[in-house]
Amino acid sequence: MADFVGAVDQGTTSTRFMIFDHGGNEVARHQLEHEQILPRAGWVEHNPTEIWERTRAVIQTALTTANLQASDLAAVGITNQRETTVVWNRRTGRPYGNAIVWQDTRTDRIAAALDKDGRGDVIRRKAGLPPATYFSGGKLQWILENVDGVREAAEAGDALFGTTDSWLLWNLTGGPDGGVHVTDVTNASRTMLMNLETLDWDDELLSFFGVPRAMLPAIRPSSTPDFYGVTRAEGPLGGEVPLSGALGDQQAATVGQVCFEVGQAKNTYGTGNFLLLNTGHEPVRSQHGLLTTVCYQLGADKPVYALEGSIAVTGSAVQWLRDQLGIISGAAQSEALARQVEDNGGVYFVPAFSGLFAPYWRSDARGAIVGLSRYNTNAHLARATLESICYQTRDVVEAMQADSGVTLDVLRVDGGVTANQLCMQLQADILGVPVSKPVVAETTALGAAYAAGLAVGFWESTDELVQNWNEDQRWQPSWTEEQREKGYAGWKKAVSRTLDWVD
Ligand code: G3P
Repeated sequence: MADFVGAVDQGTTSTRFMIFDHGGNEVARHQLEHEQILPRAGWVEHNPTEIWERTRAVIQTALTTANLQASDLAAVGITNQRETTVVWNRRTGRPYGNAIVWQDTRTDRIAAALDKDGRGDVIRRKAGLPPATYFSGGKLQWILENVDGVREAAEAGDALFGTTDSWLLWNLTGGPDGGVHVTDVTNASRTMLMNLETLDWDDELLSFFGVPRAMLPAIRPSSTPDFYGVTRAEGPLGGEVPLSGALGDQQAATVGQVCFEVGQAKNTYGTGNFLLLNTGHEPVRSQHGLLTTVCYQLGADKPVYALEGSIAVTGSAVQWLRDQLGIISGAAQSEALARQVEDNGGVYFVPAFSGLFAPYWRSDARGAIVGLSRYNTNAHLARATLESICYQTRDVVEAMQADSGVTLDVLRVDGGVTANQLCMQLQADILGVPVSKPVVAETTALGAAYAAGLAVGFWESTDELVQNWNEDQRWQPSWTEEQREKGYAGWKKAVSRTLDWVD
């Protein structure tokens, strides 16, 4: 058997290809950003063709750099930004337009209407999701209603829907005639179109959004010995490799963090933050603003579900300091700037750029910086930005404990922002629990590699994967209880100022 497994991680801001060995160690990687297209306030788009080109390039460069070829890979997994909606033509393989990204809020009226006539409660019950702009169903409805020719083509079975996992699987397996049209259960569980119990598209949910079944991909397990397909020899891998694992990126990170036991949780710090708690084989319904989602399904095993706290804007708030305000030159500088002050100087920043996701689900919220006085500087704003990442996580942890009764004794973390020592220390302080980071912090790509490798016997069982997890760093809480509660009360007050902003 080949010695390595590959994984494509198609994220919100970039796409990377990583190669891992049997110990779960990184052997090679390459990463390229793609354009964030912002045509109007609240709209966020990606060009699917650019994403496919970036995917090809990162695969080729990573293989070349590591001096490896397709025959060195036992399997390839795919993980992806979830919910982002692509529609393309089955015959030409060309997209009908840009993908509508998960952060995009153009469907706020579609989402709001769902709660006016009872459809919202059906979606909550069947799909485990609150009606929100976040999920794919409303985005797909918008495309069907607003992009010329899509409705007719969809009804004829010529227009295909997919999240970016489906889009890449189509392109990796297909020639000019197209490839497989599949998705995995975790991605399908983010659409508002899949029934969490049957793991199939649900006709009633499809009718809510006017979505023809003919345009939907087949739903498959997250790890499958039957493969979704094999890569085309003419494609970027230059050979035929089984594509046998696919998961939404947050579920992949949960697998990469080996959270296979009920009650284990991880928090990933990317453009947003996503905290997932493994709740086992039964979906747990949230009473406190969390999502119920599929965590993973390995082969013919029963699916495992998760409660999820999704936060739209965390790392992207730091990018905003860099790109829109120009007060830092790079993400790393946010730490140096924030360290210039002892505390937030009374300033709170609620980066509700896409409304507020969990646990509030308020698309009418917009960002606010509050508590300013003449004394405050850029450094206080940088500190308040890092604190906002941690306070939003605290909101989600509070909801998770209320829903599940599980009290976290440690929070496993991963993702880019975990390189920020101050932010991770603040996270431990604000939560009052230790924060722990693994040696292999690229848990998203690793989780997709694990899913693909388990399917082909590269790894025998999840027990083997657990052995690969080792702690790299741990941050212990240092604030007093009084400091913690005073800080959190300030945050809650700041959040209340952001609500009801948009009519
Ligand atoms: O649900 C959105 C999430 O999957 C995006 O993750 O890491 O690409 O920002 P990321």
